Amino acid sequence: MKYSTKTGSLSEITTPCLVASLQTAERVARELGHRDTLNVAITDFSDKAGQAQSIALPSSSPIRRLLIAGGADATLAPEAYRKIVEAAARGLKGLRARSAVWTLTQTKVTDRGGHWKASLGLHVLSTTLYSFDQHKSISDDDAVIQLKTVQIHADARSHSSVRRAVREGNALKSGLDMARDLGNQPANVCNPNYLLRETRKLGRLDKVSVSSLNEKRMAELGMGAFLSVSQGSNTPGRMIIVNYKGGKRKDPPVVLVGKGITFDTGGISLKPPASMDEMKFDMCGAATVLGATRAAAEARLPINLITIVAAAENMPSGNASRPGDIVTSHSGKTVEILNTDAEGRLVLCDALSYAERFKPKAVVDVATLTGAVIVALGSHASAVFSKHDDLADELVAAGEYTGDRAWRMPLWDEYQTALKSNFADIPNIAGGGGGSIVAACFLSRFTESMRWAHIDIAGTAFQGGPQKGATGRPVALLFRYLVQQAGL
Ligand code: BES
Ligand code: MN
Ligand code: ZN
Repeated sequence: MKYSTKTGSLSEITTPCLVASLQTAERVARELGHRDTLNVAITDFSDKAGQAQSIALPSSSPIRRLLIAGGADATLAPEAYRKIVEAAARGLKGLRARSAVWTLTQTKVTDRGGHWKASLGLHVLSTTLYSFDQHKSISDDDAVIQLKTVQIHADARSHSSVRRAVREGNALKSGLDMARDLGNQPANVCNPNYLLRETRKLGRLDKVSVSSLNEKRMAELGMGAFLSVSQGSNTPGRMIIVNYKGGKRKDPPVVLVGKGITFDTGGISLKPPASMDEMKFDMCGAATVLGATRAAAEARLPINLITIVAAAENMPSGNASRPGDIVTSHSGKTVEILNTDAEGRLVLCDALSYAERFKPKAVVDVATLTGAVIVALGSHASAVFSKHDDLADELVAAGEYTGDRAWRMPLWDEYQTALKSNFADIPNIAGGGGGSIVAACFLSRFTESMRWAHIDIAGTAFQGGPQKGATGRPVALLFRYLVQQAGL
């Protein structure tokens, strides 16, 4: 599906479906001479947020359907506007239209302009219309496949900001789809090799190159923490590096680092069986940094971006690491592995030390790192950890703008004291509560020289239950952050 911009008078449009507020629909119906048809159809429609009704017009009409979004004629707060947009997107998903024109950009939203309204609509459409049925012999969602284009209506005043939102919205969709597809893929398909193969496809984009480190190379680089995780699996681990050179040659890059545990059994510190299948989502950090990278490259953002994926499988086996094992990380620091299920930080610490060589202007790692963050924030916000207030603020603001929200957590020195080992420089776990903060503290020991932030997405990257699946979060946040870094 593709998005484009549409300008001009609504009553001169030809489309299978016009998505509009009630007043706009009434005006268009009147101009087309179909006011009576509309009047009959909306007898029982309540013009409230969350309602959406589709009305067929006679086959002679250039607009074949009106999809009316309830509540869209009022001046709305941003959160109320989102509800209306979500209902309209769901309504559109239920139709069998091949294309549609979206006019909810006309609704007035307090403190928000044309770019925001268009971006929100595009983001919600991309999220709502996604489906993953590659492994189903009968698709649940054939309606989705029918929708090929959505045109976003812009008036003369907002034309340029809507056009930019559409360009970004197409790129974001592509990044979101990639992240969710990778996340939803089962671990017997999506292993470190698969992640490498899929990442290589990014190399077809302009100014993008892809390379990787195999286990032999990682051993030479002294990445003992990473290798202690991958050694238990029959599928070797990989460090995957994507280089996007959209900026000037000397611009320091932003570096994104993603946790790519393609399956987390816990290793010898084995997890309980309930919901263990969801540990196929333990590579969603990797999936989302790759998705954001795809979006940045497709949008041709004028920035330099390096993306590092730490891809490994955490398995128990005769070759797996044991609780109590001590390994030496790429930084030279030794780590006592007290729990093999705290593996994310082990692969990430080597990836983060490796990031130093790129002299980044900022490093952001993204990881389904701790169950504790779900206790703290549930599934509404990703957790941001950083000692750099400006960087934390930029990430939280990007989340606020896109609705892909994040909340800052403390990273005070007081939490560091829990990380003491009798036998090595640092243990990989500590008692005393604040599990997601302690995990962030562990990572901070490997990022001291850099402007660094960590985002724990264990609560936001995927849903369980009947809606089980990857959400694509925080691709939108990351992409918005990168757009801002590009000064757009
Ligand atoms: N991948 C898990 C964290 C996780 C849990 C993600 C639930 C998504 C949903 C991580 O590797 C892990 O196992 N963390 C442990 C850390 C503990 C051993 C200190 C946890 O959270 O229990
Ligand atoms: Mn684990
Ligand atoms: Zn994990």
